[in-house]
Amino acid sequence: MSQIVLSNVRKEFGGQRGARSWTALNGVDLSIEVGEIVGILGPSGCGKSTLLNIVAGLDNDYDGQFTIQGKTIEEQIAAGFRVAYVFQESRLLPWKTVRGNVEFALKASKFPASEWRDRVDNVLELVELSKFSEFYPQQLSGGMQQRASIARAFVIEPDILLMDEPFSALDEMTARHLRQSLLNIWSAFRTTILFVSHNATEASFLADRIMVMGSDPGGTIREEISMAGVQRPRSYEDLGLFEKSKTVVNALRSHSGRTDPVLA
Ligand SMILES: Nc1ncnc2c1ncn2[C@@H]1O[C@H](COP(=O)(O)OP(=O)(O)O)[C@@H](O)[C@H]1O
Ligand SMILES: [Mg+2]
Repeated sequence: MSQIVLSNVRKEFGGQRGARSWTALNGVDLSIEVGEIVGILGPSGCGKSTLLNIVAGLDNDYDGQFTIQGKTIEEQIAAGFRVAYVFQESRLLPWKTVRGNVEFALKASKFPASEWRDRVDNVLELVELSKFSEFYPQQLSGGMQQRASIARAFVIEPDILLMDEPFSALDEMTARHLRQSLLNIWSAFRTTILFVSHNATEASFLADRIMVMGSDPGGTIREEISMAGVQRPRSYEDLGLFEKSKTVVNALRSHSGRTDPVLA
């Protein structure tokens, strides 16, 4: 059985008291296996964040089926299933150190306090922040802040990690470093990852499968691209990866109705 299964998931916003309603998701089918890394790409407004919020359990006002190993997310969370969410901005607490921020995530977890220090040390080492554990967020670069937010996500040993454009505010070299940090930590934990990206190369570098959503109308997955042929560890220099990212760009162009040759 797949870990995460969405079947004909539909989501409408608005529509109350005569207001116009808006279909954000229009029949999404998606199955994800344990430990898989799945990327979602698509034009702005096609429903990517809406989809992530549903999988996170933050939005339960939708139609269709969404189950995790056959149960609802509410049942799974009650039984100890853990979801972590990383956003474009690190969202660290400015009055806490890096260690304090990562430890804070453990306070709501079931891990005993006696383990917290070792758990924090472990994830900070995996994201190469050990030397900066007593620094405050404002003393760190944007890339280091985002690494701290990845450490904070993994410290609870999540069953699924959701990431919404996690690296899009970073310059390319910093983003490359972070993607590698992410894959290093994923190798240690083998957490299922579902992420949103705007970057075909990034998605090709990270993902096992890439889902391309479309616009006009949005709200559906139009194409699935498997990265199975591209071995890990991956390199940006790999021609196989380059070919895949071209396929992804072409899918994005056609499913967003942007066929102008200047975009090729
Ligand atoms: N809280 C909301 N209320 C009304 N409309 C929303 C809300 N959130 C998102 N939408 C609409 O749903 C569509 C999908 O939004 P979103 O999932 O944020 O897109 P994406 O992340 O792909 O850019 C957009 O048209 C957006 O305007
Ligand atoms: Mg979004």
